[in-house]
Amino acid sequence: MKIEPALIEARGLSKTYPGRRESDPSTLALEDFDITVSAHEVACVVGPSGCGKTTLLNIIAGFETPSSGSLKVRGQTITGPHPDRSVVFQQPALFPWLTVWDNITLGPRLRGVNLQTLEESTKKVLLSVGLAGFEHHFPYQLSGGMRQRVQLARVLVASPDVILMDEPFGALDAQTRVVMHEVVLKVWSEYRPTIFFITHDVEEALILSDCIYVMTRRPGRIKERIDVPFNRPRSYALIGDPEFASLRARIVGILRNEWLEAQE
Ligand SMILES: Nc1ncnc2c1ncn2[C@@H]1O[C@H](COP(=O)(O)OP(=O)(O)OP(=O)(O)O)[C@@H](O)[C@H]1O
Ligand SMILES: [Mg+2]
Repeated sequence: MKIEPALIEARGLSKTYPGRRESDPSTLALEDFDITVSAHEVACVVGPSGCGKTTLLNIIAGFETPSSGSLKVRGQTITGPHPDRSVVFQQPALFPWLTVWDNITLGPRLRGVNLQTLEESTKKVLLSVGLAGFEHHFPYQLSGGMRQRVQLARVLVASPDVILMDEPFGALDAQTRVVMHEVVLKVWSEYRPTIFFITHDVEEALILSDCIYVMTRRPGRIKERIDVPFNRPRSYALIGDPEFASLRARIVGILRNEWLEAQE
């Protein structure tokens, strides 16, 4: 049997940002970080503010280069951004002068994808993220949650190897966030994407992911890697599960200890 390599494999990843001037101190943002994400897995990273989460995601996206260590996606060293690793940002990065349909299809059209195939996949994606009927709206006519659905649709239509999400629902109110979690669960059950997801929200991490990397404060290292044992398909009923509550308490406890140690 052929053993598939891990989809994302980081070993000893570190990142130091130089100071702005030569006399300014450098910042060690990330230190000796190992991560393995398999195909179709949802991996979450939670950690204190400023611990290097976005730095890690930017390295996987190819926006930043590591200072040391190795990072491979499908066994290939990352050399820069690629549509195979698409990012859903915290603030929706949509073109305000394009409709929902055109925002979603722009990338594949520029890459010369067959238009009929694209039309079919876009209709399917719009249904999955709950935007059917809104294809002719412009971003200013959408709520924050709907804009994030457009970002997700735009990424899905490109069929990337991995979807990178950096606190995508952090700016939404708590109820919209719950709705968006259900959108992500539905999208996962339909497309089975590999997702690398950064969040502050422990409940969000437990609902969505298969494994959670809890980070230390800066320089960010792995404090603990936690396997999330809940079967899929998942629903929000999970939050009443005693095992959910105990995992939540454990992760919040780890983060709280990090915060307390930082005050010493
Ligand atoms: N381009 C940069 N140049 C210099 N320092 C940077 C740069 N980007 C991030 N940093 C520093 O690296 C550290 C980690 O930043 P990063 O944005 O990765 O943290 P984060 O965990 O995503 O934080 P948050 O939860 O607040 O989004 C911070 O101290 C930050 O000031
Ligand atoms: Mg960040």
